[in-house]
Amino acid sequence: MGKIIAVAQQKGGAGKTMIAAQFGVALAENARVALLDIDPQGSLTTWGRLRASAPKAAPGMEVLTISGWRLANELEKLKSTHDYVLVDTPPVIDSDARRAIRGADLVLVPLNPAPPDLWAAEGTLKLAAEERRPAALLFNRAPAASRLRKRLEAEIAARRLNLLPTALANRAGYANAFAEGLGVTEAGPATQAAEELRAVVQAMLTLLGASG
Ligand SMILES: Nc1ncnc2c1ncn2[C@@H]1O[C@H](COP(=O)(O)OP(=O)(O)OP(=O)(O)O)[C@@H](O)[C@H]1O
Ligand SMILES: [Mg+2]
Repeated sequence: MGKIIAVAQQKGGAGKTMIAAQFGVALAENARVALLDIDPQGSLTTWGRLRASAPKAAPGMEVLTISGWRLANELEKLKSTHDYVLVDTPPVIDSDARRAIRGADLVLVPLNPAPPDLWAAEGTLKLAAEERRPAALLFNRAPAASRLRKRLEAEIAARRLNLLPTALANRAGYANAFAEGLGVTEAGPATQAAEELRAVVQAMLTLLGASG
C-alpha cells in the first residue's frame, strides 16, 4: 500500500503547493507518485498543465484534481496504485482538508521559521492530533541560522512536535522551476537547491518509515 502525504498549513503562502510539486518530482524518480490538488485556487493543477508541455519534465507523474465526497474514496484507490500520493491542500481547514488529513500517513506542515507561522499552524496540528495522524513541521524559506529559527526549534522540541532535521532555504531555483512546470531536480539536477531538496525528501521518508 502506498503512503499519503497531506501538505497542510492554514497560513497562506507557506509553500504547500511548491513543496507538493517539488517532493512529487523528486520521489517520482524512484517511485509511482500521484499529486492531488484539492485547493480551489488550482495552482498545482496549473503547474501540472505547464508540465505536460515542458521538455525537461519526466513523464508519468499524474496530477489530479479531486474534491468533495469522492475524495476519501479516491485516496484509498490511489494508495493501491501508487507508492506516494501527495495532497496539496488549501490555506483553510475546510471539509476537504479534513478528509485529506484523515486519510494521511503523514501531515507535512511547511512554515517559515518564525513564531507567527507556528501560531498559524496550530489549527492544522490540532486537527492532525485529533485524527491521530503523525505530523511533521518543515522549515521553508529558512535562513541557515537565525535567532528566531533557534527559538522556534527549542519550542518545537519542548512540545515534542516532529521537525524535519533539514530545511528548505529561500532559493529562486525553486520558484523558477515551479514556474516552468518542473521540479528543481529536473531544472537543475546538480544545483544546491536540488541537493537540498533530496536531503529534505530523504528526511521525510525516514520519518514516514519510522511512523508507519
Ligand atoms: N523555498 C522557497 N524559495 C523560494 N520561493 C519559494 C519557496 N517556497 C515557496 N516559494 C514561493 O512562494 C510563493 C508561495 O508558495 P506556495 O504557492 O507554494 O505557497 P502555498 O502555501 O501553497 O500558498 P497558498 O496558501 O496560497 O496555497 C510561490 O511563489 C513559491 O514559488
Ligand atoms: Mg497553495
